[in-house]
Amino acid sequence: MGFGWSLPQRRRPTPHWMRIAAGGAALLLSSMSLAQQVDLGQTVAMNGTAAGVAACVACHGMKGEGDMVGGFPRIAGLSRSYLEAQLNAYAHGQRQSFLMTTPARLLTPQERSAVAAYFSRLPPYLPPQPIAIDESAQPSDVGPWLANRGRWNQNLPACAQCHGATGLGVGAAFPALTGQAASYIALQLHQWQEGKRPSGPMGLMSLVAGKLSDNDIAAVAAYYGGPDSGIQQTVAGVRK
Ligand code: HEC
Ligand code: HEC
Repeated sequence: MGFGWSLPQRRRPTPHWMRIAAGGAALLLSSMSLAQQVDLGQTVAMNGTAAGVAACVACHGMKGEGDMVGGFPRIAGLSRSYLEAQLNAYAHGQRQSFLMTTPARLLTPQERSAVAAYFSRLPPYLPPQPIAIDESAQPSDVGPWLANRGRWNQNLPACAQCHGATGLGVGAAFPALTGQAASYIALQLHQWQEGKRPSGPMGLMSLVAGKLSDNDIAAVAAYYGGPDSGIQQTVAGVRK
């Protein structure tokens, strides 16, 4: 299946499917005001719930910043619709995780929506310094090449075309990659390959992940992730 693009382009108008995906996620309607939902979400995040849900911040950090060493994802500043969809997917067994399934199941739908609202309002990842794109990358520099050029003989668009030039995410539907641990990014790509994560808007990530080898996954995860949490700018591309 093709994406219908003939040339790699870094700057171009928003493709139609991106607008469709961004508009498709509806928020759970609630009788609570937004402020009340955010308050409830904060309580869940900080204290957990009486049903036995652990405080989210114990793993995801006090500000939702994640834990690079543990591979716990950053959730602060991701969109509410994305976060809520992930929590629902864990709760319904469509997205599998040893650590997330139980808390997601024990939350009520209203609590999942509220805690998503809370974390979406925390500041997103900001790189310590402006991120420059590696213009000197060669096809053999697998990480930067896949990230910024894609692989057109496989109809594989560049990650940057959906996740933004610097991987900081685009709109509500395309989450940030920069700021996530390499181990987390790699795990997600393998989860899609193995059908352990729902394919998301328009099945885009299942298509992408299905075209990546283990080596591709390691390289592109190392490019976006890593202990310093910024895009890796080494000319060699693949950090070991
Ligand atoms: C025991 C540790 C732990 C606790 C407590 C925990 N999480 Fe997680 N969370 C994880 C791990 C590990 C992952 C990555 C799982 C995977 O690979 O899918 C994750 C993933 C997520 C994701 C998906 C992030 C993304 O970018 O797709 C969301 C959203 C999330 N957690 C929200 C929460 C919320 C909200 C709470 C509190 C109700 C919570 N988590 C409590 C460990 C935890
Ligand atoms: C055609 C658009 C598109 C392209 C190209 C694309 N992605 Fe994605 N990506 C998405 C969408 C949409 C999501 C959200 C999926 C969901 O909602 O479950 C996503 C989510 C992700 C996530 C999950 C982030 C999280 O917080 O859990 C990772 C990791 C990821 N993409 C990596 C990549 C990598 C690496 C590439 C390049 C090899 C890439 N993507 C290329 C559309 C794309």
